Amino acid sequence: MASKKFVFGYFVIPLFFLFASTQYVVSSSNVSSTLCIKEERMTLLKIKKDLNDPSNCLSSWVGKDCCNWIGIQCDNQTGNILKLDLQQSHICIDVLSLSPLGGKINPSLVELKHLSHLDLSFNDFEGVSIPEFIGSLNMLNYLDLSHANFSGMVPTHLSNLSNLHYLDISNQFSRLSINDLSWLYALSSLQYLSLDFVNITDSPHELFRGVNKMSSLLELHLASCNLGALPPTSPFLNITSLSVLDLSGNPFNSSLPSWLFNMSTLTKLDLYDSSLKGPVPSMLGRWNLCKIQDLNLGFNDLTGDITEMIEALSCSNQSLEFLDLSSNQLTGKLPNSLGKFTSLYDLDLSRNSVNSITGVSGPMPTSIGNLSNLGSLNLDSNMMNGTIPESIGQLTNLYSLNLLQNYWEGTMTNIHFHNLTNLISLSVSSKHYTFALKVTNDWAPPFKNLFHVEISGCQVGPTFPYWLRNLKSLNEIILQNAGISGETPHWWLYNMSSQILHLDLSHNKISGYFPKAMNFTSSNSPTVDFSFNKLKGSVPLWSGVSALYLRNNLLSGTLPTNVSKEMSDLRYLDLSNNYLNGRIPLSLNRIQNLSYLDLSNNYLIGEIPEFWMGMQSLQIIDLSNNSLSGGIPTSICSLPLLFILELSDNNLSADLSSAFQNCTGLKTLSLENMFFGSLPNEITKNLPLLAELLLRGNSLTGSIPEELCRLPFLHVLVLAENNISGSIPSCLGDVHGFKLPQTYFIYLMYSLAFTGYVPYTRHIELVLKGRIIKYLNQSPVQSIIDLSKNNLSGQIPEKITQLIHLGAMNLSWNHLTGGIPDNIGLLTDLESLDLSHNHLSGPIPPSMASMSFLSDLNLSYNNFSGQIPVANQFGTFNELSYVGNVGLCGHPLPTNCSSYIPGNGEHDRKREDGDDDSERLGLYASIAAGYITGFWIVCGSLVLKRSWRHAYFNFVYNMRDKLLVLMAVNLARLKRGFGFERN
Ligand SMILES: *[C@@H]1O[C@H](CO)[C@@H](O)[C@H](O)[C@H]1NC(C)=O
Ligand SMILES: *[C@@H]1O[C@H](CO)[C@@H](O)[C@H](O)[C@H]1NC(C)=O
Repeated sequence: MASKKFVFGYFVIPLFFLFASTQYVVSSSNVSSTLCIKEERMTLLKIKKDLNDPSNCLSSWVGKDCCNWIGIQCDNQTGNILKLDLQQSHICIDVLSLSPLGGKINPSLVELKHLSHLDLSFNDFEGVSIPEFIGSLNMLNYLDLSHANFSGMVPTHLSNLSNLHYLDISNQFSRLSINDLSWLYALSSLQYLSLDFVNITDSPHELFRGVNKMSSLLELHLASCNLGALPPTSPFLNITSLSVLDLSGNPFNSSLPSWLFNMSTLTKLDLYDSSLKGPVPSMLGRWNLCKIQDLNLGFNDLTGDITEMIEALSCSNQSLEFLDLSSNQLTGKLPNSLGKFTSLYDLDLSRNSVNSITGVSGPMPTSIGNLSNLGSLNLDSNMMNGTIPESIGQLTNLYSLNLLQNYWEGTMTNIHFHNLTNLISLSVSSKHYTFALKVTNDWAPPFKNLFHVEISGCQVGPTFPYWLRNLKSLNEIILQNAGISGETPHWWLYNMSSQILHLDLSHNKISGYFPKAMNFTSSNSPTVDFSFNKLKGSVPLWSGVSALYLRNNLLSGTLPTNVSKEMSDLRYLDLSNNYLNGRIPLSLNRIQNLSYLDLSNNYLIGEIPEFWMGMQSLQIIDLSNNSLSGGIPTSICSLPLLFILELSDNNLSADLSSAFQNCTGLKTLSLENMFFGSLPNEITKNLPLLAELLLRGNSLTGSIPEELCRLPFLHVLVLAENNISGSIPSCLGDVHGFKLPQTYFIYLMYSLAFTGYVPYTRHIELVLKGRIIKYLNQSPVQSIIDLSKNNLSGQIPEKITQLIHLGAMNLSWNHLTGGIPDNIGLLTDLESLDLSHNHLSGPIPPSMASMSFLSDLNLSYNNFSGQIPVANQFGTFNELSYVGNVGLCGHPLPTNCSSYIPGNGEHDRKREDGDDDSERLGLYASIAAGYITGFWIVCGSLVLKRSWRHAYFNFVYNMRDKLLVLMAVNLARLKRGFGFERN
């Protein structure tokens, strides 16, 4: 995954140069004329001839007066060319629409013997190496080859450039590497060195030794250089005035050395996303970063107390402007002394709480109101509580306020916003139930340009917040779970709708009818979410809408036949859990770009139309829990992108053995209906990617085909409540999918979420642990085998113990014989095991005592005998787990055993209870996906206003990081296992 920095580069770097460029062009044309030396002019023309210049950026390179050509500067005495500046934004005025230079750099460049300044940055040399002859330009003191698409080894010839003051070879979009740093030693005059994104494979020790020779160094940029270690003591002994040190994006995987905090000359220190962990050094309560303006320690695994850190920074309280400590595991409270940092412009402490153990806690200090320069405050996802101080309303310069996901109490009123005239993005939510926003209905907010508002988990209602109507720039309105009841102001929604990108009023108690008329703009790709309310009426026909979520309302009537005509831009449609009846209209298939269709839990009747050919973009179809009848249309399998098909709980009936020809993309197939016949033939050929097969409660006969074992991703197999006979194929023990850690399937979901995947709300039901588990919002991440209530006979195959990541197995109500495989204890992830109502016999294998996650065990009504193990989990099961086995004895049964055999396997692993978090995880995945789709469209309009862009990007990243954080925490193994988070 690209780091925040990486993605930013795409937009911010070119834009920055766009703004810088105009000025430059003016100044470079002031040079006196007629000095141009003929030989040098010929050289320039040779250079021009070899360059590709599709946008004619070098059109001024004609005539004799080469000193006045764009990008050229001559010595005003001798006429020698001193400066060749071909930086894209300097020569092509409009960098966004004009193409950069490309092609070849003619070696005659070296004939410009007096050249002291060479800049080829931001062009596109198509991945060629940096030409060695550049090393012959020994008068150079300025060399900028950054972001010009050079790749390969950096030539050691650069060591001849002993006069260099400035060297930048950072290359973000292609990979340069250095495996021998010795050339660096010669460049002792450097003041500026940037090797950002260069893959340095020589030892960091060599690097810092070389750098230490550069006693005049002011700026050192080593971001994403693949450096594996930080020196334990300061490597910069000879360097006395280093001002900028950027080490971000390196895989240091170590703690933070204290010398970094002793560098009193630094104005900027960047260690973002550098795999740093452990405590932030406290250094007797004092850091020497007394000139620091920009300190970034974000996105690491640092621990420490925020109070101590703010105190340790006290000598910089006049200079500090940017402080990013986000995405760490900091604790402690914000001290009142925070108010002394009067230059602070951007404070980001977000996402320090990922597990309710860490996180910035306590109330927000009142002194926050003294931070008169503060533009952006982000405290998202911490443990802060208390009431929000009214002084926050004094922050006149604040444009972005993010107070999501804390435990705020009390109320916010107009006073909290009193002077926030510049606010453009406002986000507040609390996990504390009392938190409320109380403003009078006639309140006119001081912020007139707000474009994003999110107030969730906060009492805003009971009436709709009428103050929103004063905000003419709003385009994202999220009032989720905000206690709003009554009706929405239809006239206002109509007026706003033309500018809406995102409207989310879900999880309220909004009643009345859906607004009839809306005026959405299809080019905004608006996302509209009214889920979980009490809105009634027929399906609204809002043209222009791209995503429409109306789940859990009181929608009634039939699906209108003109839905495809009126809402032809729909990509995501969720009308589930309503009261829709009638048939699925044949015209629906004219919504050509629909990729997600959820009509589940309604009262639809009739057959599923054979009309799917028209909707080639469909990825997810959920028609479950209706009254649909007939068979499965064959055209459904022709959908090239379909991966989830949910048709359970209908009255569908057909011979399954011949259905599903060539459903080659399908990953989930859920069909709890009245199907008959045997399991589909040639299942590996027809459904090669199948991961979840849910066929509970049909009338399937025949045996379990061995073919099933050749589905490499299968990890949920539910064939319960059928008439399947024969034995359990031993080859089930070979299915690769059951051996994959559950994190693998989370990973799949994650990757979907960022390929334009939709906010799909799953509602798979699985009978586990003796009860129905509803998987809302997520795929079951456990591996599951449920073959219960069939006519299976024979033994439990020994090989099944190879499925080491199996989470649940239910073989109950069959006719199985024999014993439990001895080494069943190998199934260390198993949480639920039900073997009840079979004819199994023999002892309970002692190895089971080592299954430390086992929380549900049912062995009842078999012929088991002997001693019940007592160790570990076995202490927690009650009699019901064993009833109906006459031969069993020992606790918890009343029968004592004559001889005592202790269970073995003293494991002490704690059970990780992730249910709650993983549910939320799914929710965030959906939310993030929703935003990300919208995001690409918006970003065009954000180009103009820098502060807007900043706030918006922040917001998008926050959404994304929320997802990321939950994943990282809930499944700590994931981070290590897949490494997608950092690379
Ligand atoms: C020549 O250029 C230098 C800087 O490059 C400048 O300081 C000086 O004033 C210029 N002399 C004339 C005569 O323009
Ligand atoms: C850096 O170079 C090393 C050695 O050539 C290579 O193994 C590694 O994959 C490279 N890393 C990146 C991120 O390009």
